[in-house]
Amino acid sequence: MVRLDVKIPQVEAGSYTIYIEAGSLCAIWERLEADYPNLQKFVVTDANVAAAGHLATLIGKNSPQVYSIDPPGEASKHIDTVIAIIEELEKAFFGRDTLIVALGGGTVGDIAGFAAAIFKRGVKVVQIPTTTVAQADSSVGGKTGVDSSISKNAFGAFWQPEAVFIDVKTLLTLDDRQYCAGLIEGVKHALIADSEYFEFYEKNVDAIKNRDLDVLGEIALKNCQIKASVVEKDPTEKNLRRILNYGHTIGHAVETASGFELLHGESVAIGIIAAGMIEEEMGLATGRLGRIEQILRKLGVPVRIPAEIDKKQLINIVKRDKKAVNQWPKFVLLEDIGKVLCKNGQWAVDVPRDLVEKILTDLY
Ligand code: GLY
Repeated sequence: MVRLDVKIPQVEAGSYTIYIEAGSLCAIWERLEADYPNLQKFVVTDANVAAAGHLATLIGKNSPQVYSIDPPGEASKHIDTVIAIIEELEKAFFGRDTLIVALGGGTVGDIAGFAAAIFKRGVKVVQIPTTTVAQADSSVGGKTGVDSSISKNAFGAFWQPEAVFIDVKTLLTLDDRQYCAGLIEGVKHALIADSEYFEFYEKNVDAIKNRDLDVLGEIALKNCQIKASVVEKDPTEKNLRRILNYGHTIGHAVETASGFELLHGESVAIGIIAAGMIEEEMGLATGRLGRIEQILRKLGVPVRIPAEIDKKQLINIVKRDKKAVNQWPKFVLLEDIGKVLCKNGQWAVDVPRDLVEKILTDLY
């Protein structure tokens, strides 16, 4: 079992631990009972996770109350789902001594975490991520929330988990598309923080695609180390944490403009290429874009904007980016692989509109 402590002063205990071990899911419930004997456990999951056998593996012979998000996926990432969870908690007389156990992918973690943040003014949550995207990114760092009918994560809170349990064996049941898309958050971590980690991706791409558990364990640890080191310094995204949004400004816009037909990681892959093209236009890049595009292609994700996406709509969505000032967002850019550009102490920088519009035209 690998342990990694994340030190966040906002968390009651001052820190929380990420536990990483292949095949550990069946032992987690006993651990929760031992670590939180006085808390009433309430599991939030979805039908896909249950069908993959992960719910049965987690709870074993125990029979905690379980809320299954229906339908699984982004369509349920809505305030009504949070209301339903909270009313179910109330009907069953759960109180401030609740431990919400989030078992599933990014959507489950975001919804369950947000319900925990607001139920009775906040109860504890542990995250047990079962997808590549959740293990690499969303289960660590305390971003929780649901979408409004207008934008992603319009309702949200920073609510750090009490602990995160990662069993990379759960990734074996993911379909190829979900699996590969989630790997892109790891590529992003390498690009923003660690050139050796990027080389690791390049060298081990076949083992990664074959879901070698040892390699997946190394990736899980590296992702959590990089993410934790950023979140510890800036838990509420005042400045440095923005680097975790590398590739996400264009990525989010492409994801939204596709009507969520593209997965998050697939959209971020396109956003990473867009950021790389911006870096080239601004004279920041030295021939690295080809390497980046090659690894993304090998991982089987799109690297161009699909023809059916309307460019005008895309630009309108970029203008509505939640971090936009005067209807234009700042961009996180790389100086080199493993090194983000910091200008006047800021980790997100201005890029002229016409340059971004040109890149978006070239990226189809
Ligand atoms: N996914 C980016 C962050 O957690 O800040």
